[in-house]
Amino acid sequence: MKKYWLKHEIPIAEELMSLAPKLLQEFLDFHPDWLTGGFKEGRSHDFVNWKTEGLKYTHPYAEPPIVFNGLEQPDIVAAFPTAAALTEKYFDDCPSSLYSTLEPGIIPRHTGKENRDNEYLRIHVPLHTPAGDIFFECEGVEIDWTDLWGFNNQLIHSAHNYTGRRRLIYMIDISYKRLGLEIQPKYNPIRELRIPAFVRGKLPKQLHAHQELALKANLGLKEVAYQSPVIDMKPIEGFVSYKEEEALRAQKKKEQEQ
Ligand SMILES: [Fe+2]
Repeated sequence: MKKYWLKHEIPIAEELMSLAPKLLQEFLDFHPDWLTGGFKEGRSHDFVNWKTEGLKYTHPYAEPPIVFNGLEQPDIVAAFPTAAALTEKYFDDCPSSLYSTLEPGIIPRHTGKENRDNEYLRIHVPLHTPAGDIFFECEGVEIDWTDLWGFNNQLIHSAHNYTGRRRLIYMIDISYKRLGLEIQPKYNPIRELRIPAFVRGKLPKQLHAHQELALKANLGLKEVAYQSPVIDMKPIEGFVSYKEEEALRAQKKKEQEQ
């Protein structure tokens, strides 16, 4: 089963990357305090660490179903003209198109309930990736946000940000059909149950092309420049480190057992 599609495998990747500087600028113009801890007003989804600002979000299997179309809201279109034009262009083949913030911490393992028929590839366009220990995990394989990629969100996945700073991407779901990519099998709950617990480093990291090149040139991964802009950001207030988070989880578990 294919987990990731790298930039060269996604036909519209260059188009999306060419929009990245404008997408980032328009977001920061609208949320100037995002860099310093603001953005409390962002919509939270299933997980507290995942906050979005966006143009479109569809969850047909939610109770009641969610159909949010920001294109119908003039203030949203005026604030994010680049994202609005992008959403409009792919509208019928694109159920979700939004800015996605990953706060410090972890989004625990899950599968995307809104795409159960697996019609859509979830593409991540990196806009701001803080330096440090930050990565995405899908069925035990790590990949990072130093370049554009897409993934099958019907496979179990999690997101990890141990940098104390926020990450920003533009997330867009587009049908495999529209992209001209092979249709993927529907969600299989049995497969999810069979995937072993995530252990870092057990499987090789999924590298982007620029990282492969750097490794071949014996530069190592640390020497690779981030392709998304690196912005100086103050650490987020109330940041919980990986170790603290583990301790809190253990404490909670203990309390539940009592
Ligand atoms: Fe997800």
